[in-house]
Amino acid sequence: MIVVAFASKHGATEDIAKHIATGLTARGLQSEARSVNEIDGLAGADAVVLGSAVYAGSWMKDATGFVDRNAETLATLPVWLFSSGPLGDHVADDEEQPKQLDELRTRISPRGHRTFFGALDSAKLGFAERMLVKAVKAPEGDFRDWDEISSWTDEIADGLAAPTS
Ligand SMILES: Cc1cc2nc3c(=O)[nH]c(=O)nc-3n(C[C@H](O)[C@H](O)[C@H](O)COP(=O)(O)O)c2cc1C
Repeated sequence: MIVVAFASKHGATEDIAKHIATGLTARGLQSEARSVNEIDGLAGADAVVLGSAVYAGSWMKDATGFVDRNAETLATLPVWLFSSGPLGDHVADDEEQPKQLDELRTRISPRGHRTFFGALDSAKLGFAERMLVKAVKAPEGDFRDWDEISSWTDEIADGLAAPTS
C-alpha cells in the first residue's frame, strides 16, 4: 500500500494528492490519498508520498506534526515529498521553499521533493487571508499542472518498480 498523505487548507493540495493516488493505482500500485490528520500510524505502508500546501514559505503544521509523529517509520520507507504553492506561472523569488526542506531531507531522506504550482480561490479565503493575498498581489486562479503531476507520479511508480541495491 502506498499512502499519499496530504495537508491542505483549501483543497488544492488534496486534489493533487488524489490525482497522484489515482495515477499510482492505474499503474497497478495500491494507493490511497488521506489527510495527515486521519492517518494513525504507517503500519502496512510500503511507501509514502507526503505533500503540503505552502503558507508564508512554510509547510502546514499538520504536515510537520505528521513527520514528527512518524519520523522513525518514514526514515525506513521510500518517501517522496511535494509542496503545493506558487501561484501564477513562475516562482517569484529564489528562496527555497518550504523553509523546512533541509530539515525534512536530513530527517527522512526522501527520494525526491517536487514543488507544484497551486490554486487560489479568494471565495474560499477568510478575511485575513484575503487581505494578505491582496497585499502581496498573489494571482488568483488554478495553476496546477496535471500533466506535470502525472509525470512525477510515473517517476514514483518507476522508482518503486526498480530493484533497490
Ligand atoms: C495567505 C496565503 C499565503 C500564501 N503563502 C504562500 C507562500 O509563501 N509560498 C507559496 O508558494 N504559496 C503561498 N500561497 C499559495 C498557496 O500555497 C496555494 O494557494 C496552495 O495551492 C493552497 O493549497 P491548499 O488549497 O491545499 O491549502 C499562499 C496562499 C495564501 C492564501
